[in-house]
Amino acid sequence: MKNKFPFLPKHIAIIMDGNGRWAKKRGLERTEGHKVGAEVFRKICQYASDLGIEYMTFYAFSTENWKRSATEVEKIMDLLRAYLGEMQEREEENEDAGYNIHFIGSREGMPEDITTLMDIVEARSSDKNKIHINIAVNYGGRAEIVKSVKDIAKRLQSGEISVEDITEEMLSENLYTAGQPDPDLIIRPSGEQRLSNFLIWQAAYAEFYYDDVMWPDYTGEDLDRAIEAYLKRNRRFGGV
Ligand code: FPP
Repeated sequence: MKNKFPFLPKHIAIIMDGNGRWAKKRGLERTEGHKVGAEVFRKICQYASDLGIEYMTFYAFSTENWKRSATEVEKIMDLLRAYLGEMQEREEENEDAGYNIHFIGSREGMPEDITTLMDIVEARSSDKNKIHINIAVNYGGRAEIVKSVKDIAKRLQSGEISVEDITEEMLSENLYTAGQPDPDLIIRPSGEQRLSNFLIWQAAYAEFYYDDVMWPDYTGEDLDRAIEAYLKRNRRFGGV
């Protein structure tokens, strides 16, 4: 599948939206939409990896999503737990697909068994480099910027750095995505056209692509369409 496109965005970020509406339309519980959504997440990871995309970031659970019903939150946590368990087993069987998995977001308030699994999966996949997959869990863009500012403030307070040393790069290096390229393309399916506190710092020069497909129906062809649209755009980064 490599060389399907003349060049590729290095980093694609996706807001996996529309699970609830997809389920409701079929007379199913919202959680059924998340279940199918988690399967689609797996398929799109594989598809992006086969295409040769280097970085993918998926918005799985925001800091605001705790406001949903306990049943729905629990179901999403269960899906994450199942995925993490699977990734751990795959590694043991040495069948890992070369995914370098990284969780972005706060571990605070998350179930402890999940954060333990996150640490294990991250550590075990850290030397893989076929594709970097960021999964945003308990993530909020503003909270991420505040975290970065606090980390810098501590260094300032200890005298390690001075005010003049503070740069955009320093702020970036204290985000969860430190060391990674900013997203080139941000995709939101389901007809919504908002960023919803997702990668707000990193999105400064990203191209946006909106789609009417609900996430549980999302396929590789939909990703192809977004990439084709991206390739037609003229990114000037503030220049002419
Ligand atoms: C947004 O759709 C989706 C979510 C808040 C949850 C996404 C979570 C998953 C796909 C499962 C995560 C699991 C893994 C393994 C990464 P919505 O519920 O807001 O849809 P709606 O706007 O139609 O209500």
